[in-house]
Parts: sequence; C-alpha cells; structure tokens
Amino acid sequence: MKVDVLLGLQWGDEGKGKIVDVLAPGYDVVARFQGGPNAGHTLEFDGIKHVLHQIPSGIFREKTRNIIGNGVVLDPIIFKAEIEKLEKYNLNVKANLFISKKATLILPTHRLLDQAYEKAKGVNKIGSTLKGIGPSYQDKIGRQGLRVGDVLASSFKEKLKKLTDIHFEILKTHDIPFDWNALESQFLDAVSFLKQFKLIDSEYFINNELKSGSTILAEGAQGSLLDIDFGSYPFVTSSSTVTAGACTGLGVAPKHIGEVYGIFKAYSTRVGSGPFPTELLDEEGEKMRKEGNEFGSTTGRPRRCGWIDLPSLKYSIMINGVTQLLMMKADVLNIFPTIKICTKYKLGDGSITETVPYELVNENVQPIYTEVKGWHTSLEGITQNKMPAELTQYIELLEKALEVPITLISTGPDRKQTVHRKK
Ligand code: GDP
Ligand code: IMO
Ligand code: MG
Repeated sequence: MKVDVLLGLQWGDEGKGKIVDVLAPGYDVVARFQGGPNAGHTLEFDGIKHVLHQIPSGIFREKTRNIIGNGVVLDPIIFKAEIEKLEKYNLNVKANLFISKKATLILPTHRLLDQAYEKAKGVNKIGSTLKGIGPSYQDKIGRQGLRVGDVLASSFKEKLKKLTDIHFEILKTHDIPFDWNALESQFLDAVSFLKQFKLIDSEYFINNELKSGSTILAEGAQGSLLDIDFGSYPFVTSSSTVTAGACTGLGVAPKHIGEVYGIFKAYSTRVGSGPFPTELLDEEGEKMRKEGNEFGSTTGRPRRCGWIDLPSLKYSIMINGVTQLLMMKADVLNIFPTIKICTKYKLGDGSITETVPYELVNENVQPIYTEVKGWHTSLEGITQNKMPAELTQYIELLEKALEVPITLISTGPDRKQTVHRKK
C-alpha cells in the first residue's frame, strides 16, 4: 500500500479539512505531517461547522485512526481546548488519536517570541498567526526544542526551565508583558492532559500500518506557496508544506508515496503579508470575499482575494508531483458574469514569463489575464453529467493548462456538496 498525500497548492485555506473528511472513509489512517495550530481546517456536516487546528481531519470518521506526526509543532494548551470541544460529539478520540513522541512542543514563550519578532519587523511583518510556529521550529532546528516524548520523563520540568530561561533572556529585550506563573501552570496542566493520550513512535506505527496493508492519507497544512523553501520567502510559514514534507514529517520513504491530491480554490486567497500577483483590491475582490466568506479560520482576519493564478499553480504542481487536482469553492464564482484566469506574468523589465520569479517579493509582477464567460448560475445539486457548459469549459481549460486531471469539484462547504469527476 501507499501513502496518499493531500495538500494545498496556494496560500492555504483551500479546503483541505473538508476534503480530508470527505475522503477519510476510504482510508484507515489520516496523518498530519507538519504545521501546528496556525492551521484552521473546517469541516461541515449535519448542519454543524467544526474547525480543527492540530487534530487530523479524519477524527469524525469512526473507523479512521489519526496521527499527529513528528513534523508537527504541537501546543498542548490548544490541544486540550480542541479535545474538550469535541467531547460533546461522543467520538472515540482517545482510541483513534496517536501522537508522535518526536513532535515538537510549542511553549507559551514561543507564542510570546512570535509576537516579539513580528513587532520588531515593523512594516515588514509576516502577518504570522502568532501561534508560536516560527520560534518553535527555530528551537527544533537549533537542537534545543522540547518534544512530546519529553513530557514522559521525570526531567521534563528541568528541561522546560532551561529552555524558558533562554526565552526570557530574549524577551527581556522586547517590550512584551506576560505573567509566567499563570502561563506555566496552564501549560503544565495541559501537559498532564496530553499524557493521557497515546504518545507513540509514529514512524514505526505508520510503517507497520503500511506493511499490514492499511490505506493512509497524509494531510497537509498551509499551502505550497507558504512552504519554507519554495514559498514566497520570507512571507511563508516555517515548515515543509510540500509532498517531500510528508516523508520527513511522518518517517515515510519516498517510494511509499502514492497519489498526490493537489487542492486549489477556483480563485485565489491569501491571509497575512506577502506578494499576491492576482490580488483584487477593488469591489470585485470585496465581492469574492463576501461570497466566499473569506475570513481566517484561525484568526478571523479578512483574507485577501484574487483571480486564479496558473503560473503559481503550475509551480506548486511541479514541486509536489501532483497526480490529481481538486477544485474547491467553484460556487463562489457563480456571481461573476466573466471570470479571469492569470496565464502569465509581466515583469518590471517588460518581459513575459510563465514561471514564478525569484524576486516575487520585490519584482513588479503584473498578471496577464485571459477572460472566459462565467456560468453565472447556482451550482446547487449539480452532477458530473449535469454541469453548466461554462463550468465544464473552465475545468477543461484549467486541466489543459495544468496538465493534471481535475477529479473533484466542490460546490459548498458541506460534505455532500462535492462532485467526484471520473474520466
Ligand atoms: P483549509 O485550511 O484548507 O482546511 O481551509 P479552511 O477551512 O481554512 O477554509 C476553507 C473555507 O471554505 C471553510 O470555511 C470551508 O467551510 C469553506 N469551503 C470549503 N469548500 C467549499 C466550497 O466548495 N464552497 C464554499 N462556498 N465554501 C467551501
Ligand atoms: P491552513 O492549514 C492560511 C500564514 C499566516 C502568515 C504566514 C506565517 O488553515 O491552510 P505562521 O503563523 O505560520 O508563522 O504564519 O502563513 N498561514 C496561513 N494562511 N492558512 C493557513 O493554514 C496558514 N497558516 C499560516 O497568515 O501569513
Ligand atoms: Mg485554513
């Protein structure tokens, strides 16, 4: 058996949570491989909306085992709050959730450092979710981080003191007020809570599952354009959001990777700072935001909106080895009589390119658009064989340009508003 990977091809919030939940009944295991509570993955069914931050989106499916992999940064405080929110739904979370001992812990001081570093950046701030992601990955790479497995050792408090002392020294130079006693007791309480869960060597677990023939879906967080190496650096997150990240974030060898589902919106959004070539700063963008309810699932911030961007999608498809494309939020474009598709960029020196330039941040990148007629009608109740002709044309145009089949169209936030498209 193989590990299939589902990940975002844009700047996050493509609808990963919804689709992992839709696909989960076909998988024995769902595993998050990177990121942390900066993610907000929304699922909707039976009239209820759920937002998950660290818990994999297979948790609502009774027969699916869920893993928080070693590549994740885990905040015990947010974890406790998430689990408590799920309690009223009578799920068997304790039986179905497994957490890697090698996942990195986010401490309350990481959140404070995130604030401090953002403040120090002034106008160049990243627009971080302020969940402590950057500072906790810094400590991991700096070889001084604490890991989930450390909570089981009697020396945990000592290790905590050692690391927080380092953080306090840095925080002294920034003007960030905090009450460590309160934060520490909240953290230690959440750590005790975490200890009740199955803390495992997840790389053995997942490889044993593979050997015994289980089907596994790796759930990405953020999006490829926020990847630490390939995203619009420095306006990125601090993890490997691409397919290769699933290998290192779970301990799965590249030869075990199967399908790569690349998920994208029928348009584009971005939350936080950084370049966004097709951004609409006018009324059209405002309409998109309103129609798509484009407000952050984690921070509530309004998302920046714009037309679909093919050069950046092609780039993400290349880096990830995408085998199937899933197009989300097609219904949001119902209101537009014409739809624009960015096919190329015009650079500051007048040259035209289909590739994503290194200097995306500083370069004056102007989108070059093709316009197509919109379907301009509701997509409620559509099926593969009963689609407005203009929607079919839009899909076929994208497939031709992106050279990967689009096998799923999403027409609303609910599980049921999903059209599987067979060739
Ligand atoms: P994720 O981070 O990739 O899981 O995406 P988010 O949950 O942050 O953002 C996607 C938002 O779009 C959520 O509010 C979803 O409920 C919603 N959504 C997902 N698919 C669709 C769709 O096809 N149409 C509409 N209108 N909303 C959708
Ligand atoms: P999901 O998984 C959209 C953005 C932040 C900021 C940058 C760095 O829901 O798609 P960080 O907190 O990681 O240091 O922030 O990345 N960002 C996201 N944007 N969706 C996400 O996750 C994001 N996680 C981080 O807005 O610009
Ligand atoms: Mg999200």
